[in-house]
Amino acid sequence: MQGRVRLSDKVVLAYSGGLDTSVAIKWLKDRYGLDVITLTVDVGNERDFSTVRQKALDIGAIKALVIDAKELFVKYFIFPALQANALYEGQYPLATALSRPLIAKLLVDIAVEEGASAVAHGCTGKGNDQVRFDVSINTLAPELKIIAPAREWGMTREETINYAKRHNIPIPITVSSPYSIDENLWGKSIECGALEDPWTEPPEDVFTWTKSPSETPDKPSYVEIGFEEGIPVTIDGQKVDGVSLIQQLNELAGSHGVGRIDHVENRVVGIKSREIYEAPAATVLLQAHQALEAMTLSKDQLRFKQKVAQEYADLIYSGLWFSQLNRDLSAYILSSQCYVTGTVRMKLLKGHSSIVGRKSPKSLYNLSLATYDKGDQFDQSASVGFIHLWGLPVKIQAQVQLLGDKEGPLSIMAPKKPEEG
Ligand code: ARG
Repeated sequence: MQGRVRLSDKVVLAYSGGLDTSVAIKWLKDRYGLDVITLTVDVGNERDFSTVRQKALDIGAIKALVIDAKELFVKYFIFPALQANALYEGQYPLATALSRPLIAKLLVDIAVEEGASAVAHGCTGKGNDQVRFDVSINTLAPELKIIAPAREWGMTREETINYAKRHNIPIPITVSSPYSIDENLWGKSIECGALEDPWTEPPEDVFTWTKSPSETPDKPSYVEIGFEEGIPVTIDGQKVDGVSLIQQLNELAGSHGVGRIDHVENRVVGIKSREIYEAPAATVLLQAHQALEAMTLSKDQLRFKQKVAQEYADLIYSGLWFSQLNRDLSAYILSSQCYVTGTVRMKLLKGHSSIVGRKSPKSLYNLSLATYDKGDQFDQSASVGFIHLWGLPVKIQAQVQLLGDKEGPLSIMAPKKPEEG
């Protein structure tokens, strides 16, 4: 723990209703004499929030708050990540990572409102989430103390369960599940249990958002997603708000088994971990968004934007959301989206989503230039001069350096070995 805590002080605890954070309510009181205010943030992790709230009060929280942050999450975190095409290590759409700075911001706001001197979260000392919470909280409110009970108490899972039993803390049924799970609108993250062996195929019971492709319909579903400036706004021509749009696509794509990801990733704390994700809506939307960008951005924009996307994904993953670098990258991303307007048609079948059509009023695709049929306006004779200049530097280099090589005419096919000795 950082800094000192006054007696009879208050702490705001990010509360999920799970085992660790439930035990933490009691532990924070016993260990630090703190009165606990719980904060449960709804980022699309469907739950019975009134039961979660009541549970916190029953365990001894002096106040239990629930905030519906789904719209904030979509507007300020998910859609910017979509506009960027953010995928960590090319695979993970960052669902968990994106929710942490939002929860941190709400924790800080409530702490200030309630006059608490500390905030707490349920992260262990091995994961990325502790980094994201602590860095965000420290950045927004360095005066707040941060307590991470599960990082401090040194209890094994079994000891935590015994602690709960001793103190009449209800043990959630999910405790019997071998997996550690985090869910929100943008996806579900699953780790632990049998998944810790990267050679083991994920047992079917880890998947709850996506059907097994062996059980999905033989007939495809088609869906048309309409974008305005990089933001998805319609499904099959109907205007839909961001939260419902993501929910609908999770349902639909999940029912076709789309969005399963199996990733061995590099954590911020230096560990490689095997992670399973289910992200049906994210998979479909990222694919559709990129297809529309392919129509509306130039080759150079696309190439530069890929680099930005990678930087942006790294920044999100490693907990540096509240940074000027985020603002700088966001400014570029936003500016790049001004013509990313149009519609993408996708086909969902047997665990796959594919682009089958795209159109845009700002499309750079020009049929009269692309066509091999009549109506072709591309001046083929201009290619001759172009090719002459384009290839000039390699031609000169080959004549002076490569073709004269003693190793024979084929040596130009292979890279030259460094001299030995
Ligand atoms: N590895 C992912 C990340 O760091 C997900 C972690 C989510 N936590 C969990 N309990 N599965 O963003």
